[in-house]
Amino acid sequence: MTDPVLSVQGLSVETRDGVRLVDDLSFDLAPGEILGLVGESGSGKTVACRALMRLLPEPALRIADGRVALMGQDLVTLSEARMRGIRGRQLGMIFQNPTAHLDPVMRIGDQIAEAVRLHEGASRTDARARAVEALRQVGIPDPEARAGSYAHEFSGGMRQRAMIAIALACNPKVLIADEPTTALDVTVQAQILRLLMDLRDRQGVSIILITHDLGVVAQTCDSIAVLYAGRLCERGPKRGVLGAPAHRYTAGLIRCQPTSAGGEGMLDTIEGQPPAVSAMPKGCRFHPRCGAVIAVCNTHQPEQTARGPGHIAACHNPVADAAMTVSV
Ligand SMILES: Nc1ncnc2c1ncn2[C@@H]1O[C@H](COP(=O)(O)OP(=O)(O)O)[C@@H](O)[C@H]1O
Ligand SMILES: [Mg+2]
Repeated sequence: MTDPVLSVQGLSVETRDGVRLVDDLSFDLAPGEILGLVGESGSGKTVACRALMRLLPEPALRIADGRVALMGQDLVTLSEARMRGIRGRQLGMIFQNPTAHLDPVMRIGDQIAEAVRLHEGASRTDARARAVEALRQVGIPDPEARAGSYAHEFSGGMRQRAMIAIALACNPKVLIADEPTTALDVTVQAQILRLLMDLRDRQGVSIILITHDLGVVAQTCDSIAVLYAGRLCERGPKRGVLGAPAHRYTAGLIRCQPTSAGGEGMLDTIEGQPPAVSAMPKGCRFHPRCGAVIAVCNTHQPEQTARGPGHIAACHNPVADAAMTVSV
């Protein structure tokens, strides 16, 4: 097995009041792997990824525990000055709303060139050439001309492509994409997901793709990590997790997914609401919404147990192997 490019061990994020928004998160990311981080809104996906980037809004939130090793180097203990060098250069990030992260009064090409100059000290001419090349790589037509455009002259999909070009201009090892297609229509969403997969194939970049949409994961990812109320329920290869989910929450999410076959009309939803962070239930955090509770679920957090190669789940009463036959 190759060494992971990113290894997260026991990462916990707390509020000032000691509420754990992310609790004991662990996963590895292999070179060229696309990991889907899924969970309902409020499950801690964004907080977890901001913690990885060391971009938490301190002092409101802080890393309380854990290790984030990027190619063996622990980011949690790194100085802010060294961390700034790593962001952009080794860790790229793209967001749901590219407009908020693009400079409205700077030409797109200049924004990419500036990132290249900042991180690599490239000459002005080199940086401009790299910017045009980056726009070409993300599929922007006529990149020489488009480098001179401003963000408002781009469509939503083109802006997201431009964000990806900025994030990739310095060849980062890991790209963190936080709901990058949520604001886009379905056709453009599919194009952007296709682009991320192409970039992985061509540049070998590893990607953490945050989404609340299991369909996106099924289309795009190699592996999945499922968060519920800040804790990891289940993680493993896509086929294992979607084909034979062990955790009741994962199984519920899959049942709620519109199938491509369609025609079913109403979908199941998982009854109830995720817990408020200030009132986390004792025991398994999912137990108040779970249809398969046994006594221990009320009192003890489930340990993670192996379900298959690389596949683990934290559930006291997991779905039996033969009980789910969802095709993906
Ligand atoms: N700055 C903050 N201070 C306090 N709580 C926060 C802050 N940011 C996010 N949270 C809380 O952390 C939880 C996880 O949020 P988030 O990571 O944004 O969820 P997701 O990205 O999965 O939708 C939510 O309950 C949210 O209210
Ligand atoms: Mg989020």
